[in-house]
Parts: sequence; structure tokens; C-alpha cells
Amino acid sequence: MLKMAQTFDITKCRDDFPALREKMNSKPLVFLDSAASAQKPACVIDAVRAAYESGYANIHRGLYRYSQDLTEKFENVRVRVAKFIGAVSGKEIIFTRNATEGINLVAQSWGRSFLKAGDEVVLSVMEHHANIVPWQILKDQIGIEIRVIPIDAHGVLDMDAYRAALNEKTRLVAITHVSNVLGTINPVKEMTALAKAHNSDIKVLVDGAQGIVHGPVDVQGLGCDFYVFTGHKLYGPTGVGVLYGRYDVLESMPPYQGGGDMIETVSFSGTKYREAPYKFEAGTPAIAEILGLGAAVDYMASLPVDKLMEHEQKLLSYAMERLGNIDGVTIYGTAPDKASVVSFSMDNIHSSDVAMVLDQMGIAVRTGHHCAMPLMEYLGIEGTVRASIALYSNESDIDRLIDGILKVKELF
Ligand SMILES: Cc1ncc(COP(=O)(O)O)c(C=O)c1O
Repeated sequence: MLKMAQTFDITKCRDDFPALREKMNSKPLVFLDSAASAQKPACVIDAVRAAYESGYANIHRGLYRYSQDLTEKFENVRVRVAKFIGAVSGKEIIFTRNATEGINLVAQSWGRSFLKAGDEVVLSVMEHHANIVPWQILKDQIGIEIRVIPIDAHGVLDMDAYRAALNEKTRLVAITHVSNVLGTINPVKEMTALAKAHNSDIKVLVDGAQGIVHGPVDVQGLGCDFYVFTGHKLYGPTGVGVLYGRYDVLESMPPYQGGGDMIETVSFSGTKYREAPYKFEAGTPAIAEILGLGAAVDYMASLPVDKLMEHEQKLLSYAMERLGNIDGVTIYGTAPDKASVVSFSMDNIHSSDVAMVLDQMGIAVRTGHHCAMPLMEYLGIEGTVRASIALYSNESDIDRLIDGILKVKELF
């Protein structure tokens, strides 16, 4: 049977998100802060509510029907997440609290076990604090070295500098898939291939907190060892994230935290841990939120991804063009491969003043350093205003943003 080409219906899509019917400061909400945390479709909210409303129990431990049924639903999310990102199986999916915890897990489990003083970890200047500070903690603990890859004036990673940074001491490349400030989409597949060609023992961690939101991810295709993301940016609940790890790498790693659920047997003479991924999931997980993440992944998988990307890219071009035409507006991040995140500043107007005026007009944007202080330092600025475009954004959102910016100009 011929598969009908799916279309992306933005009006129908917006109907899926109850929050978009709200007002903020008595104005219809324009939500342009989804890169910080996205709004949730009704199916995600329903999945979380349903988990608590009926058949709720703790998982993995109970012999009664509720516990067993919920365990099955919970484990099924692991399988769906694996499929969503192209992992070999659910055994490669570790549920964490968020992307931050995923990176800390890798730093403290893999990093502390396999790195030693003088070993090098390669980062880029556009990393979020979540992919900087865990490595600095490790540096303090065991004396690793951190190398930082610069970017050009468009926000594109300097690949010559990257190639030059790979040397006999390199043990890990930890790189963001998409910059949360510049929108730059990094060539993570090529970067992984270069690292592995240099030395097949080099591990690659991709921070996919923003990357997973804006396009299909295939971890096997990327060839990376670790991929982390967070549920709340992927239209799912807060309190849940995912660490993908190649199974042989996960198997070689010791637990990150100890406690219930991650053990086979415990006695005072010693403890036997469960296999991966369970040995990394100590304690009761965020059961309802993980079921919500499952609904978010199903929701994303039900949409035509190519049409979705087209939609976001069209809005990105429109926003860049309209903002670029306003005198006194400077845009940061003009990479040819760019996701729908627009950071900008206005001459002689503080970003928090911009945000305050926009807030009064019902427009939510982010301001400040966006947890990327080293990038701000590199760009020689204190912060930016950031408008992030999600799958539910539309042209009217951009028009209202532009009206808001013109209003700011008028007022200051
Ligand atoms: C690129 C990037 N990495 C990591 C994170 C951290 O995500 P979380 O706070 O959900 O752990 C963020 C959040 O803004 C991000 O944008």
C-alpha cells in the first residue's frame, strides 16, 4: 500500500497544546522560550495524570497486578525511546533526571574509572554549563585537562582547530549537537568519525538537549558512545532525561549511585550489581514522568519530521530576516546549519529591559547568559535576548515579537 505523504498542520498542532490557549499579562501568549522548556501536548499531560489516577504502584518490585502492569508500561518506554533515537535496544537507555545528570553520570562513572591525570577532554566554546562543569569537577578530582574548540564569527565550530586538538592524550570529545544560544548545528557525525579515526579508543559524548528537538537522531548513524537529552525540552515532563550509551561501554562502567533497584544481591560482605541499564538507576525512578516521556516520544514520532523541520526552518528564516532589518539589532549565530534559536541584542538597551517590555505584551523570551557564560565571554557580551521557535510556533508569533521589538525601540 502506498503511504500517503503526511502534512504538518500547524493549526491542529497548536490545538494539541492547552497552554497556547492561555493569556499572559492579559495578552494571548506568544511562547518563544521553548529552548528553556517546551509546552506540553495534552497527550503528555494525560499520560502523567493517567499514571497516578489508575493502576499506580511502585515498579520492578511488586508481585501484584498493578506493579507488574506498570513495570511493563515503564519498560516499554525504554524500548520506544531506543527506537526513537536509533539505539540497538532498550538496554542502552538509562533514565536520568535530565541531560545534566546524564553528563555527570558519564563524568563520574566512566571518567573517574578510565581517565587519569593529563588525559584530555575536548569541548567547544559554545557548551552549556551542563557540559562544562562536570568536566571541571573531574579535573579537580583527578587532574584531566580540558581543551576548548573555538568558533568563527558566524558561530561555526573551527574544524581545523578540532582536528589539531585531537592528539595522543585525547580520551573524550564532549560536544553539543545544537547550541542553545547560537542555534549552530554541529557536524557531530563527522566529528565522531574524525575522533575515532584518530584513535578508536576516544569516546564521544553528544549533548543532545537541543539537538533531539529539531530533527531525527540516529545514535548508531552518528557513531557516538553517549547521547544525552532531557524530557522537558522534547515536549515531555520535567524530572526525566535519557542517557544513551553503547552497551559495551555501559557494561564496562561502574554504578554512578548506589541504592535499591540497581542491585542483584546485597550483603555486608559485598554487593552484586545488576547489568546495565539498571545498575545506573538507583532508587525509585520518576515513573509517571517517564510514562509522560513515552507519550512525548510517540507524539514526536507521529509527526512528519521533514515537514516539521521545514516549518521550523521557514519560521527561523522569517525571524532572522525581520530582526535583521531592524536598525540596532545584532544577531548572534548565523551558521548555515542552524536550528530555530535566535539570539540577539539591541544597541544601548539591556536585554532584561527588552524582556520586560515583551512580557507586558504577552511574549515570553529568555534573556541573560543562557547557562553559557564562557560563550558570552568569548563573544564579549553579558547576555542576549533569545527567541526559540518550537514546532507549535507560527508566523504570528514572529510578527508579535517584531512588534514588541519595535515597541522597545520606541520606549528606550
Ligand atoms: C545544550 C544544553 N545542554 C544541556 C542542558 C541542560 O538541560 P537540563 O537542565 O534539562 O539538564 C541544556 C538546557 O538548557 C541545554 O540547552
